[in-house]
Amino acid sequence: MKLWGGRFEDETGGEFADFNSSLSFDFKLYPYDIEGSRVHAKMLARQDIISESDVEKIISGLDEVESRLDEVEGWQDLPFAAEDIHSLVEGMLKEEIGSTAGKLHTARSRNDQIALDIKLYLRDRGEDLLQELVSLVKKMVEIAADHKKTIMPGYTHLQPAQPITLAHHLLAHSYKFKRDYNLLEDCIKHMDSSPLGSGALAATSFPLDREWTAEALEFSCPTNNSLDAVSNRDFLLEFQNAAVLIMTHLSSISEEIVLWNTAEFNFIEISDRAATGSSIMPQKKNPDIAELIRGKSGRVLGNYNQLAHTLKSLPLAYNKDLQEDKEGLFDTVATLEQVLPVFSKFLGEIEFLPERMKEMAEKGYLNATELADYLAEKGIPFREAHEAAGRAVRYALENELKLEEIELSQLENLLPLSQEDIDETELEKSLEVENAVASRNIKGGPAPEQVAAEIKSLQQWIEKK
Ligand code: ARG
Repeated sequence: MKLWGGRFEDETGGEFADFNSSLSFDFKLYPYDIEGSRVHAKMLARQDIISESDVEKIISGLDEVESRLDEVEGWQDLPFAAEDIHSLVEGMLKEEIGSTAGKLHTARSRNDQIALDIKLYLRDRGEDLLQELVSLVKKMVEIAADHKKTIMPGYTHLQPAQPITLAHHLLAHSYKFKRDYNLLEDCIKHMDSSPLGSGALAATSFPLDREWTAEALEFSCPTNNSLDAVSNRDFLLEFQNAAVLIMTHLSSISEEIVLWNTAEFNFIEISDRAATGSSIMPQKKNPDIAELIRGKSGRVLGNYNQLAHTLKSLPLAYNKDLQEDKEGLFDTVATLEQVLPVFSKFLGEIEFLPERMKEMAEKGYLNATELADYLAEKGIPFREAHEAAGRAVRYALENELKLEEIELSQLENLLPLSQEDIDETELEKSLEVENAVASRNIKGGPAPEQVAAEIKSLQQWIEKK
């Protein structure tokens, strides 16, 4: 079934026809292609461009084609070869209703048709992905709620820096996914206009009702400029960009899971269900799921790059290069659809080991800032206080002590305070990791009170979604 034979004397050679064909991947657009066709046909009848009996035939034919295609497992099982999904649907419609099928394409081009199909596809799948993001944030917030007081080391440069809580850490990731939600939602909003009626590039002389088709397909409005409508793939690049961010964020937390699962960190235990072994080393328990998600971020970034490179320098309006927008899109959607639910479940298979986390938070002089703050509160300029706390850390390191284990008589030599100025219990208290966390009680800080408020506001956000 070919849609453009008239001008040609000769057939397209087999290898060129194969090369041209997108059916092997755009086959999955058939429900959207058929939906667009139904609405287009109805509008043609409303505008008296085709007759009522034609549209009835076309609609029941399309229903038949759709149920036939629902039965097809893969594109290899399609009834015949075609250049693309549009040619296939029209060809199958012709099998069903004969030459009336040819009226469906009045005032339409495959260029506005494909622009419509990918919008319908992405809107549909995008809505599901938004829900997956909400589920992920929900899962993380649930875990965080149980760990408001679970002390762990916070890092900068992957060096132990200051004590935080596991809840604070997990919420940091949650906010990243919440932003991804907003980005994806914006992307879906940005494609909220119907390209139908833009024709090949210069619209059509038929009196179409573009408002009606837009509304019937649940778009806010028709697109404004026909050249723009058939060449616009910005929303696909925006989607790929949102996907890159989602995967970047998943990759970052996956990396932490890999680290935390090492014998060196030993912050978590992954359940047997969600871990894998080695075929040679019997002792191994590997975090493959986290590694695979980290790895898949590369392919999604690759898809973004591929599309950006395809789009750059394209002249207006439609060019066949645009056919290359789909495989990467489908791959990214499939990756996200697989990864997001798996990652949410995977989080549920992780046991956090609070004692070990706290032990490490107490080990690496993470309370050195507390010492500097203690001195600054006593009126010593912070720069001097920082210097003095640094001296205390060096002394403690040399003598294999914790800061709180330094004798008061020694402290006097290290700090710009005399022994009488130091209240030992007060100092000890302020050096405790629990205090380090609890005292950071301003908005955005790790104090359990602040984290509880954040959890509440995230829960309210989740409820509304
Ligand atoms: N398969 C094409 C694509 O994916 C559909 C549009 C074809 N249009 C054309 N004028 N050849 O972009």
